[in-house]
Amino acid sequence: MKKLIAPSILAADFGNLERDCKMINKSDADWFHIDIMDGVFVPNISFGMPVLKSINSSANKPLDVHLMIVNPDRYIKTFAALNAKYLTVHFEVCNHLHRTIQEIKNNNMKAGVALNPHTPVSVLDSIIEDIDLVCLMSVNPGFGGQKFITNTFKKTQELKQLIDSKESKALIEIDGGVTDKNAEKLIENGADVLVAGSFVFKSNNPLETISNLKSITN
Ligand code: DX5
Ligand code: ZN
Repeated sequence: MKKLIAPSILAADFGNLERDCKMINKSDADWFHIDIMDGVFVPNISFGMPVLKSINSSANKPLDVHLMIVNPDRYIKTFAALNAKYLTVHFEVCNHLHRTIQEIKNNNMKAGVALNPHTPVSVLDSIIEDIDLVCLMSVNPGFGGQKFITNTFKKTQELKQLIDSKESKALIEIDGGVTDKNAEKLIENGADVLVAGSFVFKSNNPLETISNLKSITN
């Protein structure tokens, strides 16, 4: 499978959101990565439904929505209506993860599960066949622009082994601190989707940066 690049809108210029969405439309990127933070699960608040609505009206690539919120079940239908293709919830906030995953799929979205850096891959042992995407957090969720945690390389390998051993179709997504320095090794270790926020939007030429990341990984 081709490896995918998902620029994170969190690092975009919110005063020029339409311009930045159009840049991604035009680029070699595959998805829009959308970070929703509630100030409870993570120590930051990003943006909510009205902003996502605007992004959706400009974006012409799939929306990969990463919920860093407690009680994600409350909003599954809302995100389906806002055109999310992938809806990712955090393992750490789901008491009934199986039910949450089924509910996401019943609303015609792909179901993702994110793991914090301290959460071992083995917690997904009994559920991996039901998951469409696992998002390995390679920074502590809540902020863009943080340093990549190198233990993620090992976790990526472990997750790849788990997925293969259970014949799961889950994609492995890496989120946080991704750059041209770690992209290749992440792909070698089994990653399918790389999220990149600051590395893309803070670069001098985001289009070229996306295209370089894409060529490193494919
Ligand atoms: C962090 C978010 C990430 C973030 C990545 O909580 O989930 O998606 O936007 O940003 P960078 O690439 O700057 O680490
Ligand atoms: Zn994210």
